[in-house]
Amino acid sequence: MQHKPNRWQPGKRDILFLALVVTVITVLTLGSTERKTKPLPDDKVHRTTTSRAACMRCHGPDGVRPQPPRHTKDDQCLLCHQQPKGWVGSAR
Ligand code: HEC
Ligand code: HEC
Repeated sequence: MQHKPNRWQPGKRDILFLALVVTVITVLTLGSTERKTKPLPDDKVHRTTTSRAACMRCHGPDGVRPQPPRHTKDDQCLLCHQQPKGWVGSAR
């Protein structure tokens, strides 16, 4: 096959290859969960709560809004849940 320098005509294999690349990128993007889940609501409570213990008073098993049953036991909530804009805690 001969291609002229500036005119690339994608063939079937090129299309397949591109589709593969796009798929891989999509899977990797969706697969990374870092701070991709629900952010904290932007309200007074969530702007001013800075300790896990405080979070868990409402989000523990007996709180008003328990974490989902299979939720991680990980302590660092903000690793995954983005804090609201005016959050009073230290930047993390
Ligand atoms: C005074 C109780 C209270 C405290 C303290 C509290 N929350 Fe919440 N939180 C709620 C309630 C009620 C909701 C659901 C209603 C809403 O969206 O405002 C909620 C919603 C959430 C959501 C999103 C849920 C959704 O459906 O979008 C996340 C994530 C969350 N809280 C995490 C935290 C973290 C992390 C902390 C500690 C920094 C915390 N909360 C402190 C009561 C609390
Ligand atoms: C490793 C990442 C990670 C960490 C750390 C984390 N969460 Fe979550 N959390 C998630 C994911 C993912 C979901 C969504 C689960 C689902 O939809 O079933 C979630 C869901 C929630 C919900 C329910 C939201 C709703 O729809 O009602 C609450 C409340 C919550 N998390 C609170 C917390 C609190 C409080 C902490 C810290 C003690 C915390 N999370 C730490 C990943 C995390």
